[in-house]
Amino acid sequence: MTDKIDNKKIRDEFPFLSREVNNKPIIYLDSAASSQKPRQVLEQLIKTYSQGYSNIHRGLHTLSEEATNAYEEVRQKIARLINAGSKDEVIFTSGATMSLNLIANSYGSSRLKAGDEILITVAEHHANIIPWQMLCERTGAKLVAVPVDRGGSFHLTELKKRVNKNTKIISVPHVSNVLGTVFPVKEISTIAHENKAICVVDGCQGAIHMPVDIQDINCDFYVFSGHKLYGPSGIGVCWGRAEILETMPPFLGGGDMIDEVEIERATYSEPPSRFEAGTPPIAECIALGAAVDFVTEIGMENIEKHEKSMLSYGHERLSRVRGLSFVGTSPMKSGVISFTLDSAHPHDISTLIDQDGIAIRAGHHCAQPLMKFFNLTSTARASVAIYTEQEDFDALAISLEKVNRIFGA
Ligand code: ALA
Repeated sequence: MTDKIDNKKIRDEFPFLSREVNNKPIIYLDSAASSQKPRQVLEQLIKTYSQGYSNIHRGLHTLSEEATNAYEEVRQKIARLINAGSKDEVIFTSGATMSLNLIANSYGSSRLKAGDEILITVAEHHANIIPWQMLCERTGAKLVAVPVDRGGSFHLTELKKRVNKNTKIISVPHVSNVLGTVFPVKEISTIAHENKAICVVDGCQGAIHMPVDIQDINCDFYVFSGHKLYGPSGIGVCWGRAEILETMPPFLGGGDMIDEVEIERATYSEPPSRFEAGTPPIAECIALGAAVDFVTEIGMENIEKHEKSMLSYGHERLSRVRGLSFVGTSPMKSGVISFTLDSAHPHDISTLIDQDGIAIRAGHHCAQPLMKFFNLTSTARASVAIYTEQEDFDALAISLEKVNRIFGA
């Protein structure tokens, strides 16, 4: 696979990568939890706060108009990034978790009733479990999880077995944050629609790694967080199909989401502002626009190619570490490599390799049901990003062998 990325040049764009941890150059393999930020995102944050900051949609002065335009421009950029039909289908939230809560509370609470069913998978992180559990508690609906196989692959036959006339929502990850499995979201959307259900895609680990075309996927909602896409934290996206958004009641009430307000009642604005109550993280949103520019300039196809080659190098390099087992071996994989070591607990692994300046995540990855499904309490997880290089995995493999020696393996 040809890698079109000039990795050295890209790494230079990330000031964070020049720091040291424990007197060692940082090796950051925890981008699935949150990515580092390129210079243009950092500069945009400073520029907005120092030169262009004002509240949006409210003031009639120049600054407010400028900030409003910059904020709304990002909506357009996001729409282009995921090929949305209209920028008005892009709702800004505080992140993917809030997006899923918005869907569960607004769409879910207004449509579901006792006896209805929501299908998820065992591979969800908690953000795609808890809002649906809470919805079930409110409505009497039932939450059903579709299993994956022992390698972490997802089979549509397992989904089909569980879809029935009561299924109203199917909510799945684009990519599992633990297994790395890429889910067949287009086919899942088709199955949802054939059964008169809607399809929600949790794109936390999807939109950051590959081109996303929501019109092609044909799902009804697609959500992701800005902080994993090289943008700031506190800003995320809930894309929703226009004809569904138009019928949905607001979730949070306050400024900006209203049309007319009296003491006893109010009318609400059209989407997307109906779902954006209160002052949003304005500078963070504008800086997310800079992050979208950053990935667009490189090209999501090129990012995907680079990360695939890093993932395949990482698998090969780590497979030579004694006592290492991969958790998640689906042929369709993206973003993450989860593993265990015979010699040491994932928490010990993470703590020890931190001494070599290496950051990975260890634990249940906010996916406790998946851990139970695999009879595990935790795994270690290395995740890749646009700035990952082969040397990161060389260093990780050497450090893991050190762990083996410390634990007498
Ligand atoms: N869901 C994030 C992760 O996988 C936080 O680390």
